[in-house]
Amino acid sequence: MEVNISDLTWDQFIYPRGNKSEKTISSYVEALEIGAQFPPIRIQRVFNYADGNETTVQSAGRHEATVIVDGIHRWFAFKEKGIKKIAAVEWKDKPLDYEKNKTALLLESAKCNTSHGDRLSPGDKKRIARDIPTSDPECKWTELALAEKLGVIQQTVNTWISDIRGRQKAGRNTVILRLSHLGWSPEKIAEAVALSRTRTSEIVGNANFGKIDTLLSEGHDMDYIASHYQMDLALAWSLRLERMTDQERFKELGWGLRTWDQWNFNECDERFGDDWPGRIPAQLVAHTLFYFTKPGDLVLDPMAGGGVVSDVCLLFERKCQSFDLALMDNRPEIQRYYWDPQNWTWPVTKKEDAE
Ligand SMILES: C[S@@+](CC[C@H](N)C(=O)[O-])C[C@H]1O[C@@H](n2cnc3c(N)ncnc32)[C@H](O)[C@@H]1O
Repeated sequence: MEVNISDLTWDQFIYPRGNKSEKTISSYVEALEIGAQFPPIRIQRVFNYADGNETTVQSAGRHEATVIVDGIHRWFAFKEKGIKKIAAVEWKDKPLDYEKNKTALLLESAKCNTSHGDRLSPGDKKRIARDIPTSDPECKWTELALAEKLGVIQQTVNTWISDIRGRQKAGRNTVILRLSHLGWSPEKIAEAVALSRTRTSEIVGNANFGKIDTLLSEGHDMDYIASHYQMDLALAWSLRLERMTDQERFKELGWGLRTWDQWNFNECDERFGDDWPGRIPAQLVAHTLFYFTKPGDLVLDPMAGGGVVSDVCLLFERKCQSFDLALMDNRPEIQRYYWDPQNWTWPVTKKEDAE
């Protein structure tokens, strides 16, 4: 087919190189002048496309476009020569959702560039491989699939991205464990981390931190142990305190248990909860849990702020459901909810959600 040059969009995200090559464009312009024929470029119709880049040409309104998957230099050369149409083939024969397919489009574009024209440099390939995990935290693109698209061996991709994937897996596993310890159902955890229920249950089942006691006996502190396991401090402490009585936990945490009914705490224990306006001390939460709940009980924090209540629930093996209208990236357990004084509908409607 032939398409109008002006209907095509150069999409910077799916373009696999650092930049276009003026030298290549000039040589194509010269070739056109002496009547050279070029193979068709590769294009793709997309929808759900928000084009914020002024250097691109957009075809049909804000949400639809035809992006160039392969053939940017040919497209620029045709434009420079004032040619209005260019031969093109479409990658997939129906329009794709851009947001859902942009990584696949980038990899297809990279694949085309590994076999012809100005081949991608190893630097370009490495940059693409390292960009993918950021837009693919669920690891849908395996190292093998990336290797095949980039025209390198799997071992090379492993070397390029193993540090990023390692951090992602540790971060994700920590979220899964935290939510599981707080009593979230496997279905809700699976939904929150975009993994299957089987996979999340496996991660919980395979979690093994048997070395905490050894690390402590070697003289390491809890900050070291938390970073060793790539987890937050509250979760590391909760693993250390597992199977202890509440009184033993108070002792291990260095908090005197106050047996009278007036509690004053001058300072927040910085280890638990994040800095937040109106932050309350973890020791206060611990005393409330000690006197009014027992292990396994479900605690509701309707205005969770910096998350100190959920942290202390982790330490004392209470389940916890936390809500707030303001959310933080590092607090997956806090669910967005606005308590409307005109409408007191309870957000947790299904009993099994809370258990
Ligand atoms: C004093 S802070 C809670 C501090 C928390 N206990 C801590 O120690 O970090 C009160 C919280 O209530 C939340 N909040 C206020 N009005 C709300 C509403 N109508 N619905 C949901 N959250 C609300 C605010 O965003 C704020 O984080």
